[in-house]
Amino acid sequence: MNQLSFLAARGNLIHVTIAGQGSPLILLHGFPLDHRQWLPQLESLSAHYRVIAPDLRGFGRSSLNEAGYTIADLADDVEQVRMHLAADDPLALCGLSMGGYVALEYWRRHASRLSSLILSNTKPDGDSPTALAARQAMIDSAQQHGSWEAVSPMLTKLLTQTHNEAHGELFDCVQQMLRDCSIEGLVAAQQAMSGRTDFIASLPAIQIPTLVITGEQDSIAPPAATRKWAAVLPDGQCHVIPGAAHVTPLESPAEFNRLVHQFLSI
Ligand code: MLT
Repeated sequence: MNQLSFLAARGNLIHVTIAGQGSPLILLHGFPLDHRQWLPQLESLSAHYRVIAPDLRGFGRSSLNEAGYTIADLADDVEQVRMHLAADDPLALCGLSMGGYVALEYWRRHASRLSSLILSNTKPDGDSPTALAARQAMIDSAQQHGSWEAVSPMLTKLLTQTHNEAHGELFDCVQQMLRDCSIEGLVAAQQAMSGRTDFIASLPAIQIPTLVITGEQDSIAPPAATRKWAAVLPDGQCHVIPGAAHVTPLESPAEFNRLVHQFLSI
């Protein structure tokens, strides 16, 4: 596994972890996570692909020079990553939850670069008024009490109850990512997600092969709602992983990797 950083828009240093050789597969993490959520994919899928896992602005080791970015800015950062590391090879782009919002925006802006899309534990619609209020409440909580206080209640949604109670390696890994999330990173990401585009009406226009995955116990991207929007994709397939919640690539790495490899090798 190699690590490198390069300068992207607005002087932000984007940190990228890379493993393997072959066709490029870029993996975009969720909130408030970083490239470590993809460790099992960096380890295993790298036997077949050039796996590229950036830390999005303000997460992991990537910097955040100015607050106030949009999901479109993150999609353009991904385009910088592609230009640096994937040249003109057809690109498979995979995003989990917030990473899925970025992947959809990347499709809108740079569709000709994509050979396939993987949308994991995510949703294409915009925020309801309740969701917008919850984002503002999280921002207020982070600014008053710190980021851990604000994000720690998410643990029960990110992992299944079994994983939360086991307090094993997986729990420690996710908890550490939450502890490492900065207040500035949290605020900027919540604001960017609040203003994201609603892609529901655009789904029938996604002509490339698209794999949709969620966890059986995912309350953020629930199976029933996910199956419904995935059915509208012209070349889509949807899988629900049993015994997983929101961070399926970490919770059920073997099944997640099997689905991705099967999809990409068709
Ligand atoms: C994530 O896992 O990335 C977040 O739950 C997405 C969101 O807050 O909408």
